[in-house]
Amino acid sequence: MFAAVVTSFDSAPRYQEIATPEAQAPTEIVVDVLAAGLHPRVRSQADGSHYTSTDELPLVPGIDGVGRGPDGLLRYFVLPDTVRGSMAEQTVIDTRRSIVLPAGSDPVAVAAVMNPAMSSWIALRQRIDFAPGSNVLVLGATGSAGRLAVQIAKRFGAASIVAAARNADLLAELAAAGGAQTVSLAGEPADVATRLGAAAAEVDVVLDYLWGEPTAAAMAAVVTHRTDESRPLTWIEIGSVAGAAASIPSAALRASRLSIVGSGQGSVSGREILGELPALVQAIDEGAFEVETRAVPLRDVGAVWLDTSNTRERVVLVP
Ligand SMILES: NC(=O)c1ccc[n+]([C@@H]2O[C@H](COP(=O)([O-])OP(=O)(O)OC[C@H]3O[C@@H](n4cnc5c(N)ncnc54)[C@H](OP(=O)(O)O)[C@@H]3O)[C@@H](O)[C@H]2O)c1
Repeated sequence: MFAAVVTSFDSAPRYQEIATPEAQAPTEIVVDVLAAGLHPRVRSQADGSHYTSTDELPLVPGIDGVGRGPDGLLRYFVLPDTVRGSMAEQTVIDTRRSIVLPAGSDPVAVAAVMNPAMSSWIALRQRIDFAPGSNVLVLGATGSAGRLAVQIAKRFGAASIVAAARNADLLAELAAAGGAQTVSLAGEPADVATRLGAAAAEVDVVLDYLWGEPTAAAMAAVVTHRTDESRPLTWIEIGSVAGAAASIPSAALRASRLSIVGSGQGSVSGREILGELPALVQAIDEGAFEVETRAVPLRDVGAVWLDTSNTRERVVLVP
């Protein structure tokens, strides 16, 4: 069978023939893969930079996908940290890490949306007691996950949403869609801090996809602009597109009721993640989310891998 294969952490995967995988345990089945999303997490798996990387090569990338098993059922599956990923004609899944999809689910839509949508859905459901009526700041709101976070916070009853990012065109689209006040993170740091501080002074929850320097600056800006220091502020670390480490100002933690939590593999258990998926699938099937998706044949994985210019679309590889 054919698969995308990574033989070096420095180069894009190549489409090549490999041995057909075999199930090893009673809970495992081989599925025909129908769709696998090219998420940032998959890129970090394939370049060895993700915190779960074991440096083992060669590897087939892909952390989740939609496939059909020998029982004919359509499943969304999440793979364990493995070198046998979903970007292949077939892969082995553990049925305990999968959910059966309704027969009419669109494999490409589910493969595109589940990973980025899960990031905020699970953070708000599993890492905090999110109260409808809360004010939310999304840091990094123009990526696939950030744009979905705006929609999901709204769905869960946020009273107000501030959407902050750099890309002016995508921020304008978010503003036009309504429901969120946009703040540009582009420009002089002092100006950004003033803008963000003014817009986000009274937020209750931050969904943070950036980390690194932008997060340190945003945290200082929000905390110093608060009118009521006793108002709880929960900062949920979800992504790290701007840096793996951030210099958190110590005063932010002393001068406000700031709590920092993370949401992702490990801080949320597999069981908790799976428990949320049916409701998320239902929302996707109902067309609740606006996401731009591009299906690309798996044989073109090398070319699409190298093209990182378009963060608007979520690419889905189709064997
Ligand atoms: N923990 C979880 O459960 C979970 C689940 C899914 C995804 N994630 C993580 O969430 C993050 C975002 O994922 P995604 O799917 O939205 O990615 P994406 O679609 O590639 O979007 C990333 C966005 O980040 C912004 N960005 C990139 N570099 C930046 C920088 N140096 N400073 C500020 N902004 C920068 C860009 O927007 P602008 O150019 O407009 O700023 C871009 O649109 C990734 O780190 C991903 O691994 C976490």
